[in-house]
Amino acid sequence: MDPSFWPSQSELNEIREIVATMAGRCIEDVRVVASPYRICPLGAHIDHQGGTVSAMTINRGVLLGFIPSGDSQVVLRSGQFKGEVKFSVNEIVHPKDNIGVCKNDANDSSKLYEECDWGNYARGALYALQRKGSHLSQGIIGYLCGPEGLDSSGLSSSAAVGVAYLLALESANNLTISPKENIEYDRLIENEYLGLKNGILDQSAILLSSRGCLLCMNCKTKEYKLIRSPELQKDQNIEMQKTYKMLLAFSGLKHALTNNPGYNRRVSECQEAARILLNASGFGETDALLSNVQLEAYQEHKNKLEPDLAKRAEHYFSENLRVVKGLEAWATGRLEDFGKLITASGLSSIQNYECGSEPLIQLYKILVNAPGVFGARFSGAGFRGCCIALVDAEHADEAASFVRREYQKIHPELASQWKQDKAVLICEAGDSARVILS
Ligand code: GLA
Repeated sequence: MDPSFWPSQSELNEIREIVATMAGRCIEDVRVVASPYRICPLGAHIDHQGGTVSAMTINRGVLLGFIPSGDSQVVLRSGQFKGEVKFSVNEIVHPKDNIGVCKNDANDSSKLYEECDWGNYARGALYALQRKGSHLSQGIIGYLCGPEGLDSSGLSSSAAVGVAYLLALESANNLTISPKENIEYDRLIENEYLGLKNGILDQSAILLSSRGCLLCMNCKTKEYKLIRSPELQKDQNIEMQKTYKMLLAFSGLKHALTNNPGYNRRVSECQEAARILLNASGFGETDALLSNVQLEAYQEHKNKLEPDLAKRAEHYFSENLRVVKGLEAWATGRLEDFGKLITASGLSSIQNYECGSEPLIQLYKILVNAPGVFGARFSGAGFRGCCIALVDAEHADEAASFVRREYQKIHPELASQWKQDKAVLICEAGDSARVILS
């Protein structure tokens, strides 16, 4: 088996043994959901406005081992979080069942995962299935685990978890649900059940990715395409051609700064900018989303926006253009050009979207200057966590050492939060989420 393939046989064996012991059943009865993390090279912060994004999964993610429980009970344990979560699939779940602090304090999805009862994602999955009229009779006995230190890092750990529970409950109940439907179900978990106003980037990447392709998703129309990676166009043999890798560089920041305005605040600012631009251009009745504003209307009326809103709108419109150019560059194998656009996108996140914190910005700059790096940016909501870079495969090790060394010099305390080998990870493209039977 390709050593870069995730999950490895030993990871699968380990989780199967744990679940078999929990349930008092045979290892062969254990199914495992592999739900990968995603990166978004271009198209940051525009999914919630109906923009077009690019994404791919990586060969890391969360594993949920499970067995249908034989009755309505759901019993869950986690490798990262304490306690046992128990509920019945017969319980009717309402968003108001959720802990209030999660809704009020939501500034990124991973924060929710960290600070709430971790079982909320499983309840959220039940909520979404019930809300769409699915009747569940089977619960699951399950064990959820992810790689140490990669939750709360902007790699979409929360969507990976939400999708994992959806797939497990659907599998246990013999429900056939398409990836597109599951994108909507995960949206219900995050937007309705947990109150985060995020877009559909994360779960779309997790559910639709195909190894070696870049996913391009129009978050307004939900149309998507998979664009083959340039090297695969030359040679269909994925093993032979690995010209690029991804670097994940961790800042060591786990908590958003207290004065951080947060994810939902940015979404509201984008909507406010859209409302002003739509009113000014005679479309006041249209939904206040920046994707409903024509580029020409934006250019004509942007002077009506106060400075902060003008920056959010500038990020949206410039990022859409970068996505268009980036898809062309990717499809024609111009990785240097693709990389430059990623770096420009990172800069716009800093200057226009105004997310990030000083250490994250410094880490971004170090990555941009690392040997062999085509381009870099913050990952995810960008309020903390990690940066990603696209790097020439031949220079990946050298670049990773450079980043570790330089970040250590300016932030020894933050850098010490990570075990040396985990501070910068070298990853490859992954597959979509799936249920693995034994
Ligand atoms: C988080 C959100 C996504 C998206 C990204 C930023 O991951 O969950 O919907 O907005 O941030 O691109």
